Amino acid sequence: MQRIRYDRFSVTLHWLMAALLLGQIALGMWMLGLPKDSTGLRASWFNVHKSWGMVLGLLIVLRLAWALLRPRVAALPQARTMQQLAAAAHRLLYALMFVVPLSGFLGSVFSGYPIRFFGIVLPKLGQRWEAGKELMSALHQGSAVALLLLIALHVAAFVYHQFVLKHALIQRMR
Ligand code: HEM
Ligand code: HEM
Repeated sequence: MQRIRYDRFSVTLHWLMAALLLGQIALGMWMLGLPKDSTGLRASWFNVHKSWGMVLGLLIVLRLAWALLRPRVAALPQARTMQQLAAAAHRLLYALMFVVPLSGFLGSVFSGYPIRFFGIVLPKLGQRWEAGKELMSALHQGSAVALLLLIALHVAAFVYHQFVLKHALIQRMR
């Protein structure tokens, strides 16, 4: 049977991850401007970013698994093309929420520096590999920007449905 709104677990994950993702994107952009001096300030904010990034990476795996397992949520009553576009946008959001932390993690593995998870040094998974690091860095940056743009589109679509079409969309995600 199809549900007409998202279940409690999906709703909790949606809003928790929305807040964490926006904070994480802002932190990522801000920390790059920190000076490369000997105070360790830059390194410690990088560690904060990596730790929360790994939390987000675990959360998206959980969320993806749940999205595949939970009962289907009925599409909004609107034209078939619009339903397909919304589904495609949601799938792309999921894909980016997976690729962004994965590329960040792999980039850090290939940098050769130890990765800390809230202070705990993780086992070393690889040696320094310059080309791999460069590639993952570019992917991390590009996918994070794409995610930010898609989130903006997602919020614009929400505003349009909620306030122009008056679909009471928020009822489905609370
Ligand atoms: C980081 C930001 C966000 C991300 C990555 C995100 C992602 C998603 C995804 C993937 C879905 C599909 C449902 C699912 O399977 O979980 C969804 C649904 C939804 N989102 Fe977001 N979201 C974000 C922020 C927001 C914000 C700020 C709003 C509103 C102000 C919002 C409102 C909604 C609503 C109402 C739905 C349900 C759509 C429906 O009825 O089918 N989201 N979101
Ligand atoms: C969903 C989670 C994540 C988001 C949204 C995110 C977002 C960002 C953003 C926006 C930047 C700035 C990019 C730029 O302008 O060049 C950045 C940089 C960076 N992030 Fe993440 N990040 C996430 C997860 C991770 C993880 C899991 C790691 C490593 C374990 C990581 C490591 C880094 C590093 C080292 C940088 C500095 C630039 C580079 O070397 O690529 N990030 N991140």
